[in-house]
Amino acid sequence: MIAEKLIDGKRFAASLRKRIAAETNRLRETYGIVPGLATILVGEDPASQVYIRNKNKQTVEAGMLSLGEDLPGNTSEADLLATIKKLNADPSVNGILVQLPLPNQISQNSVIDAIDPAKDVDGFHLRNVGLLSAGRGGMVPCTPLGCRILLKECLGDLTGLKAVVVGRSNIVGKPMAQLLLESNCTVTIAHSRSNNLPAICRDADILIAAIGQPRMIKGDWIKKGATVIDVGINRVSSKEKGKTCLVGDVAFEEAVEHAKAITPVPGGVGPMTIACLMHNTLVAACRQNGIDPPDI
Ligand code: GUN
Repeated sequence: MIAEKLIDGKRFAASLRKRIAAETNRLRETYGIVPGLATILVGEDPASQVYIRNKNKQTVEAGMLSLGEDLPGNTSEADLLATIKKLNADPSVNGILVQLPLPNQISQNSVIDAIDPAKDVDGFHLRNVGLLSAGRGGMVPCTPLGCRILLKECLGDLTGLKAVVVGRSNIVGKPMAQLLLESNCTVTIAHSRSNNLPAICRDADILIAAIGQPRMIKGDWIKKGATVIDVGINRVSSKEKGKTCLVGDVAFEEAVEHAKAITPVPGGVGPMTIACLMHNTLVAACRQNGIDPPDI
């Protein structure tokens, strides 16, 4: 019963990566172009180290060039900006990703502003934010892009559906709302300060949880038959003493009783985010070479 309701992000991501690898191969064979992705990690946050390792590994597996810059935690903003400038000018680099969060001495906004918008595979630069909000393409942030792919796989056409996005971050909540709007949903953005959050959620055909609070969304906040996408990745202490585990923003065991379909944590949205990073790198490489990106 539960298994039928699970949205298997791992499987969808594997299939997406396969299509991306095939198109990357075609790009190399036809034009001699190998897409390149540079990642920058500042400091030694263990979760960020795991993400970056995964990203670099999957870049290579997709047939792309992977460059990784590991900078010490006390790197100055000027030094990081100089690294970005170097990568902006490097023609073998089509995409640049600076892992967030950054240490306190570095302004996140200054870093985002410094990345060439054409190489901004995160879609965080103001130019890309503006293009998305005006419905004019640009680079789309990976996590919301992955969520929309999952929704279309599960539901097909999203037109007319009521979508509630819980969370208003620049990385997920706001671009997610834009993408759902683009797909003709009726969109509500709610957040931790919204009045009567449970009632807002209960109205949703599509519920996106992106608040960063472990198991905050309860089962009875979910309309019978809704589709639930859980973006949260929260490390909590587990029932087994001394151990930790990952949980989402949704109380999964309760929610699965109400939902028609739901993403697990881990194995739901996470794998799609990295697959979409590969997608954006391929798109960036095509556009920088005046080639129409493939429809994947
Ligand atoms: N940290 C958490 N999520 C992300 C993301 O999507 N991109 C970057 N660059 N850093 C992150």
